[in-house]
Amino acid sequence: MAFFNFLHIVAMVMSLIVSFGISQNDEDLTKGASFIFGDSLVDAGNNNYLPTLSRANIAPNGIDFKASGGSPTGRYTNGRTIGDIVGEKLGQPHYALPFLAPNTTGKAILHGVNYASGGGGIMNATGRIFVNRLSMDIQVDYFNITRKQIDKLLGASKAREHVTKNSIFSITIGSNDFLNNYLLPVISMGARITQSPNAFVDDLINHLRGQLTRLYKLDARKFVVGNVGPIGCIPYQKTINQLSEVECVSLPNKLALQYNARLKDLVQELNENLKGATFVHANVYDLVMELIVNYDKYGFTTSSKACCGNGGQMAGIIPCGPTSSMCSDRSKHVFWDPYHPSEAANLIIAGQLVDGSEKYMTPMNLRQLRDV
Ligand SMILES: *[C@@H]1O[C@H](CO)[C@@H](O)[C@H](O)[C@H]1NC(C)=O
Ligand SMILES: *[C@@H]1O[C@H](CO)[C@@H](O)[C@H](O)[C@H]1NC(C)=O
Ligand SMILES: *[C@@H]1O[C@H](CO)[C@@H](O)[C@H](O)[C@H]1NC(C)=O
Repeated sequence: MAFFNFLHIVAMVMSLIVSFGISQNDEDLTKGASFIFGDSLVDAGNNNYLPTLSRANIAPNGIDFKASGGSPTGRYTNGRTIGDIVGEKLGQPHYALPFLAPNTTGKAILHGVNYASGGGGIMNATGRIFVNRLSMDIQVDYFNITRKQIDKLLGASKAREHVTKNSIFSITIGSNDFLNNYLLPVISMGARITQSPNAFVDDLINHLRGQLTRLYKLDARKFVVGNVGPIGCIPYQKTINQLSEVECVSLPNKLALQYNARLKDLVQELNENLKGATFVHANVYDLVMELIVNYDKYGFTTSSKACCGNGGQMAGIIPCGPTSSMCSDRSKHVFWDPYHPSEAANLIIAGQLVDGSEKYMTPMNLRQLRDV
């Protein structure tokens, strides 16, 4: 009897050692990682650590973010960002951590890091009015640092396998290159003084090609690149141009479409030229436009008025903060603030990214990309 118990305990201890060994080495890694690049649409708190005028770590931002108990985290929305929700749906164990947060160290980085920064763009000069932000060149420099840390944690060969096979690289950038660069009044030194729309879009595409190629050189293989949304339809643009609820400002949308057409070609070009890589194109423009035009079909009551903001008939001038007025039902607004979608809208967008059809995701959705 005593002998049986002894064997029983030995067996239990051995099975504990075995399962612990697996979870330390393989099992956890296959849950995958998100490496998130972009602007305020997906910033999870990097700007909290920068001396910048673009910050969202003030109430009531984050009021519906369960992981913080409703405290602001630096996310520019009332709850989860698109990047957070995509990670959840793909089964990743936690949200990608802001690169600049001091506790983003050790094994936690293996399940994803977020480099996105409010005000950031493809061009270095974009977002200069905010004084500070991480532009895309710097975000890629930071991934280069993470990449070396992954080597240290896993050893070179396992690290390369994790980055190439288990990791999705998402890029949500470009809006600020128009809103906070090209379209700024001439006195703030937007690129418009010196460049035609065509030349500027050309510059954007060439820079982005370089940035994505650098990520490829660092072993990124599974990419999703979002195009620029209908930036002429955000409450801020509608308000400053004194439009009616159903109108959008045409120049910003026209520029976005001009860039988006070139981006689609770039994604195809990279799929052909960068061996072993899969680039997915996410048509965020059409997806968000669908929510804006047919908002009532999705349970929203408005797609023109910001839930949190002040100024003008769309509450679209002053960013969301403690003195803003806030709508009574946050799930009924497509826009949380003058610039950014609500969590309710993010849930619909992320659902399409992960499981949607070729209507928005080409050549595949993110669940298929994960399993490539
Ligand atoms: C890092 O710190 C933040 C803020 O204190 C906290 O919310 C978060 O859970 C921490 N993350 C990790 C991985 O410990
Ligand atoms: C942008 O800034 C980065 C980092 O400071 C630098 O490496 C890069 O050369 C700059 N790009 C341009 C086009 O000036
Ligand atoms: C990554 O950093 C190293 C220096 O540590 C540099 O030699 C290399 O060119 C960088 N790679 C990319 C793709 O930026």
